[in-house]
Amino acid sequence: MTINIPRGTQDILPGTVEKWQYIENVAREICNQYQYKEIRTPIFEHTELFERGVGDTTDIVQKEMYTFQDRGERSLTLRPEGTAGTVRSFVQHKMFGQANQPVKLFYNGPMFRYERPQAGRFRQFVQFGVEAIGSDDPVIDAEVISLAMELYKRVGLNELKLVLNSLGDTDSRVAHKEALIAHFKPRINEFCSDCQIRLEKNPLRILDCKKDRDHELMASAPSLADYLNEESKAYFEKVQHYLSLMGIEFELDPNLVRGLDYYNHTAFEIMSSAKGFGAITTLCGGGRYNGLIEDLGGPSAPGIGFALSIERLLSALDAEKIELPVSGTLDCYFISMGDKAKDKTVELAFKARQQGLSAEMDTLRRKMKAQMKSADRLKAKHVAILGENELEAGTITVKHLESGSQEIINIDGLIDYLKQS
Ligand code: HAM
Repeated sequence: MTINIPRGTQDILPGTVEKWQYIENVAREICNQYQYKEIRTPIFEHTELFERGVGDTTDIVQKEMYTFQDRGERSLTLRPEGTAGTVRSFVQHKMFGQANQPVKLFYNGPMFRYERPQAGRFRQFVQFGVEAIGSDDPVIDAEVISLAMELYKRVGLNELKLVLNSLGDTDSRVAHKEALIAHFKPRINEFCSDCQIRLEKNPLRILDCKKDRDHELMASAPSLADYLNEESKAYFEKVQHYLSLMGIEFELDPNLVRGLDYYNHTAFEIMSSAKGFGAITTLCGGGRYNGLIEDLGGPSAPGIGFALSIERLLSALDAEKIELPVSGTLDCYFISMGDKAKDKTVELAFKARQQGLSAEMDTLRRKMKAQMKSADRLKAKHVAILGENELEAGTITVKHLESGSQEIINIDGLIDYLKQS
C-alpha cells in the first residue's frame, strides 16, 4: 500500500519549485531594498503564545491549531501565523534595546492551520511576512503596505485591489465594544454558542461569525467607523496621505475587521480582482498591533506588519496567465564515445562545475543518440562531444544547440570557451 501526503498539504516538485525560488528571491531583494532583515523562529511554540497573541476567541485558536503535547507534557502548537512568534522573539531578545529602531523584520516559512482544504486554502502553507516594530509614524504603515504591493508588482500581477480600514485606538475600540454589547445582548440567545461567548470576550468577532451571518442584527450592528475618535481618524488620514504620495491606489472598507485579535488602527487586505480567481480572493492581510508587544511581556511598543502566502500568489499568477522567467540553465552537456573519452569528459565536467558552470553528462551508459536527446530535453546551451579520434587529436566538438552551429576546438580551451559564450 502506498502512503500519500496528508490532506491540505502539497509536494512542491522540481519544475514548480523554481517558481517558489523566484518569488522568494524577489521578496528577499525587496526586503533588502526596504531594509527589513530576516528572522527565523521555531515552527512550534508554546500554545499559550497563540492563545494570548492571536486571541482565544478567534477561529484560528479555537478551531484551527495543530496542538499537541510533547513527551515532557508541554502543550505546543505548530505556528498558525508568524506575528506572534516574531514578537515573542523581539521581546525575548530585547530587540527594543537595539540601537537601530524601528526593528524591521521579515520571515518566510511554513504555517499550519486545520482548515477545510480548498483552492487557495491549505493546512500547511508558506507565509512571507514583515513586521516593523517600534514606530508609530503612519509613514511606516504606508511603507509596509507598499512593500507587499511592490512584491506583487515585480512578479507581474496587475489585477489587484488594496482595501483599507481603521480599527481605531483603544478608546475608540472600547466605545465600539460597548455599543456592540448593547446591540446584541438583548437577543444573544438567538445566536450560536460561540457568539454567546464572544459577546463578553470580544463582540467584534460576532461580526464575522459564519453561522449567524444572516441574522438581522448583523446588518444593523454599530459600525466601528462611527466610533473612531479624532486621533484615530487623523492617524488613518495620514496613512492614506502617504499611500497617495507613493502612488498606491486603495479602497476604504469599514467592514474589514480581520480574523486575528491583535489589530488596531490600520487594517488592510490585498485581493486579486482577476477573472477566474477562486472564491478566496484575499492574497495578503495585515495591520497594526500596538498592544501585542506589551501583551506578550514586552514594553509598550507599536508594531505593524503583513503576511501573504506564496500559494495564493501563485494562484493569482495563474489567474492572470503570467509565466515567471524561470528557465533553468545548463551550460554544457558532455557526450562521450568509448571508455577513454568517457574518462576525459568526467574530468572536464567536474572541472566545469568547479569553475562555476553547470554541467551534466550521461550516467546510464546510453548510446550517443539517447544522450543527444537528453541534452535537448534539459535545454543545454552547448553539447560537447568527444570521441576516441578527437581525444587523440586533443580536440573536442562543441555544438550550440539553439543555433545548431558547431565547431571543433582545442580540448584545453573548452572551459574558457564555455565561460565566454
Ligand atoms: P492572515 O490574514 O490570517 O494574517 O493570513 C495572511 C495571509 O496568509 C492570507 O492573506 C493568505 O494569503 C495566507 N493564508 C492564510 N491562511 C491560509 C491557508 N489556509 N492557505 C493558504 N494561505 C493562507 C496573518 O497571518 C497575520 N499574521 C498577518 C500579519 C502580520 N499581521 C500583522 N503582521
